[in-house]
Amino acid sequence: MKLLVIGSGGREHALVWKLAQSPHVTQLWCAPGNAGIQQERTEKTGKPVECVNISAEDLPKLLAFAQEKKIELTIVGPDNPLALGIVDLFQKNGRRIWGPNQKAAQFESSKVFSQNFMEKYGIPTACAGTFTVAGPAKAFAASLGGKCAVKADGLALGKGVLICTSVAEANKAIDEILVGKAFGAASAKIVIQEFLEGMEISLHALCDGKTAKLFPTSQDHKRALDGDQGLNTGGMGTYSPTPFLSDAELKKVGNAILNPWLRGCAEEKIDFHGILYPGFMLTKTGPKVLEFNARFGDPETQVYLTRLKNDLVELLDASVNGTLDKIEMKWSPMAAVCVVMASGGYPGSYAKGKPILGLADAAKLPHTKVFHAGTALQDGQIVTNGGRVLGVTALGRDLKAAQAAAYAAVEKICFEAVHFRRDIGAKAFYGVGTAA
Ligand code: AMP
Ligand code: GLY
Repeated sequence: MKLLVIGSGGREHALVWKLAQSPHVTQLWCAPGNAGIQQERTEKTGKPVECVNISAEDLPKLLAFAQEKKIELTIVGPDNPLALGIVDLFQKNGRRIWGPNQKAAQFESSKVFSQNFMEKYGIPTACAGTFTVAGPAKAFAASLGGKCAVKADGLALGKGVLICTSVAEANKAIDEILVGKAFGAASAKIVIQEFLEGMEISLHALCDGKTAKLFPTSQDHKRALDGDQGLNTGGMGTYSPTPFLSDAELKKVGNAILNPWLRGCAEEKIDFHGILYPGFMLTKTGPKVLEFNARFGDPETQVYLTRLKNDLVELLDASVNGTLDKIEMKWSPMAAVCVVMASGGYPGSYAKGKPILGLADAAKLPHTKVFHAGTALQDGQIVTNGGRVLGVTALGRDLKAAQAAAYAAVEKICFEAVHFRRDIGAKAFYGVGTAA
């Protein structure tokens, strides 16, 4: 089978690495990919994975490439091409592709759509309102004492959520988004949710239109600095599983979210093939969904795919075909930790083109995989090329062992102004307080 993976981050490197192990795969391309992806080979044929210089948002070029190479399955990593309708475009042209179509991708591309859906179908979520004008929005925020999350409706590069602790802050946030159009077209509508406190966890479920199969739990660390200080980032590290839900509790929470979600999808004729990734919080009054994403999380994918025992091609095939009910997902009992090594300054401005040293030494360590995110090959040298540079991922017999192994690999690698958190996974031991 010939496959094309779309995207260029750590998530896509993890997808390519896992897909390349499948005996079903004869050749693998990635658009646009990165320096780490380019070093992978398909296990069956030994062919190197080829990176092609097409942007993940250039839908016509991606389609033309898939047609030219006779790609048998295209796998979409990031949210943008899904929101732009890449799945619809490929399907219209008779090409198999994995991911939700444009209507289904609305779970991520419109927070208003998701909030209304959750309320209509009884999915546990925050008390919330949706607004297009500032007056009623401010009145609602005031009714919450100003303690709320103000969210731009559309995709805003992960920056469209403003957490407010007073009426003045909430009014400012509402003005910035609705009146000042801080996020352009994404700003036309907003959702205001009550501020929730508790442990924040990531869930993933693989879906095929009728069936949703739940993954184990994982937890991201979104703030840039230790102790959940500093600015919000795309994610500074993950671990899986978390100790906050027993298997039985996870099943219960999964059912409370997925059963009404599947019912709602059937009723609204939403044919969702892909990953549903709810971000949720374990509050004193039970689990509440904060948002839905319609793709794999990054860096959640890195810890999930190192623990996944199934052939990923078979899982994605079943997700496309609607035959997931016949497959049992199998997970390693080992724990996984991913520590993101970032460029100094991230998520603000940062330098690029810094040589990365020590990758070969880190690669020799057992149960360890260094996934590349923002890297490039320059005159034969791997250099930094983005904010999040590497996702150093390790398995261990328990979380402590996985943590130690991941940080041992981190210690082998360096580049100028490298920054990483030293407390990935620490919440599992020291618990609670507010989540990342
Ligand atoms: P979202 O993109 O909706 O997940 O929001 C980004 C981040 O903002 C989440 O990961 C949470 O840490 C935080 N957040 C979102 N909604 C709320 C809420 N209702 N209460 C408290 N924190 C929130
Ligand atoms: N882990 C954060 C995200 O993928 O959105």
